[in-house]
Amino acid sequence: MRQRVGRVFTILSLIAIASLVLAGCTSAGGGGATAQPTGKQLYDLSCASCHGVTGQGNTFSRKGQTIKVPALSWSDLSQAYATVPSRGSVEKQVSEAISKGLDEKGEALNPMMPRWASLSKAQVDSLVNYVKTTFK
Ligand code: HEC
Repeated sequence: MRQRVGRVFTILSLIAIASLVLAGCTSAGGGGATAQPTGKQLYDLSCASCHGVTGQGNTFSRKGQTIKVPALSWSDLSQAYATVPSRGSVEKQVSEAISKGLDEKGEALNPMMPRWASLSKAQVDSLVNYVKTTFK
């Protein structure tokens, strides 16, 4: 049984991190207007602050509030996102976790997981591929 994070809206530091990384995304690439950031660059900019550089997950505590950010291991994700096969491939569902904040049942993830709706499909695909090939 996987544990979902309870609703914690008051950890402003995490929200600050999220908006920082969101701002960082627009300057990702740095090599001119057409340079597309790689999955690794996107991950390091936008995800590592919460999920960890090696996808190990994190626990943040501030003023008596605790929030757990899950580890991102592809074997765990594959298991979790295989529970409702009609929702499509694991890759597709993890894409929807990233872009729409949907869990393996199609229900909303905790709002501490940002909805990355502004990323293009190619960017989300490259993130999924990075997680899949790096965090086995
Ligand atoms: C502000 C912190 C934060 C940032 C930044 C963040 N996440 Fe998350 N993420 C979370 C939290 C918290 C959860 C757990 C939500 C839940 O359990 O309902 C989560 C859940 C997930 C899940 C679902 C995991 C599962 O076991 O179902 C995936 C996939 C994911 N994040 C990928 C990413 C990717 C890729 C990025 C970067 C584009 C990212 N996250 C950025 C906090 C964050």
